[in-house]
Amino acid sequence: MHFTVEAQRMAKEHLTDGAIAIDATVGNGFDTLFLAQHVGEAGLVYGVDIQSMAIESAKQKLQQANLLHRTQLAVMSHANLTDLLLPKDQGQVSVAMFNLGYLPFGDKSIVTTSAVTRQALDHTFRLLKLGGLLSVLAYPGHSGGAEETAMIAQWLDDHSSFFEVKRFQDSQNTNSPILWSMSKCRPHLP
Ligand SMILES: C[S@@+](CC[C@H](N)C(=O)[O-])C[C@H]1O[C@@H](n2cnc3c(N)ncnc32)[C@H](O)[C@@H]1O
Repeated sequence: MHFTVEAQRMAKEHLTDGAIAIDATVGNGFDTLFLAQHVGEAGLVYGVDIQSMAIESAKQKLQQANLLHRTQLAVMSHANLTDLLLPKDQGQVSVAMFNLGYLPFGDKSIVTTSAVTRQALDHTFRLLKLGGLLSVLAYPGHSGGAEETAMIAQWLDDHSSFFEVKRFQDSQNTNSPILWSMSKCRPHLP
């Protein structure tokens, strides 16, 4: 399975014109571009990455596709995601995508980490609308990846009554990426 393609395929089912979306790990901007292509002219994609190089590269891609105006990108940690969203968009997010780990062909020491990812998931849970999709692609194979993957499984357990969950992994390979697709089926408590 090509996990990034599958993540986008499922995300597309939740995107309509005017949708609000989040790319919590912009990286090279492939998911940001995909989201921008599917939120329509009235929609908006919020995207963050801690590497300015990643945000600049994503901006170039979006500019070339004439879609930069559909995005709001910032060099910041997803631990502070809520600060980026306009109040009117909070609780209205249709899709939030996390593609964890490090930037391919980039600095492999700059990597998502368990504690910070957990904070970001807590934020995203509240930012999602009812019926919204949280997509998380985790890589247990890199240093710290197994701990992060275990944290996500635990986080999901803790939030199991709020999500309908699909989980994908290559069963032949214990280090295979894991893709969780979680649809919010119950409102969070105030
Ligand atoms: C696997 S890459 C993302 C690939 C991207 N979705 C794409 O389509 O190209 C993971 C990214 O997460 C970023 N990252 C690491 N820690 C982060 C954090 N706390 N907040 C936001 N982004 C972070 C890294 O800088 C890296 O660019």
